[in-house]
Amino acid sequence: MKKLQVAIFISGRGSNLESLIQSSYKKQSLVKVQLVISNNSKAKGLVIAKKNKIPSIHCVQRKNFENKVIKYLKNIDIICLAGFMQVLDSKFVRKWRLRLINIHPSYLPAFKGLNAQNQAIEAKATYSGCSVHYVTSKIDSGKIILQKKVKILKKDNTESLSKKILIEEHTIYPKALQMVAKKILSKKK
Ligand code: GRF
Repeated sequence: MKKLQVAIFISGRGSNLESLIQSSYKKQSLVKVQLVISNNSKAKGLVIAKKNKIPSIHCVQRKNFENKVIKYLKNIDIICLAGFMQVLDSKFVRKWRLRLINIHPSYLPAFKGLNAQNQAIEAKATYSGCSVHYVTSKIDSGKIILQKKVKILKKDNTESLSKKILIEEHTIYPKALQMVAKKILSKKK
């Protein structure tokens, strides 16, 4: 079976990138991570790509970023944003509709935007979580694919909550990607 080709956009640590790569190695996986694109030349995730022999490129210029990377995406079926700290332009987002997904560290629609874990702590919420969603031109607002709640205890702070959420991120992102791939493949038939 031919697997769907995935590109992963990162800006930093790359722990979600790693979990997506690892799960793609499973026999039942419908995807292959074909390319990593970073907007930060020092992103740790680039080392993870190299270790896994996945081609990577970095493009630090925000202006025209989309036009600069488009030529590398010709054979790509799905793009996963994994800690990618840049808003993509709406033309690009429209072109990749239902094939462009993101993970956000909150139980959306709560706590959209930056520092979601800290927002949850500040709000004294009793739970937060993580969500994988389709990307639309409204930030963190596209249709949810999969999400998971995480309890917030009185003793939790931003750091401890972030750690708990990250564990769940690493589980739901590969699952959500598999769901999206299944959907695309079923339409191709
Ligand atoms: C994750 O918490 C993700 O939800 C958010 O940015 C963080 C990226 O972490 N969008 P990593 O680079 O995948 O380790």
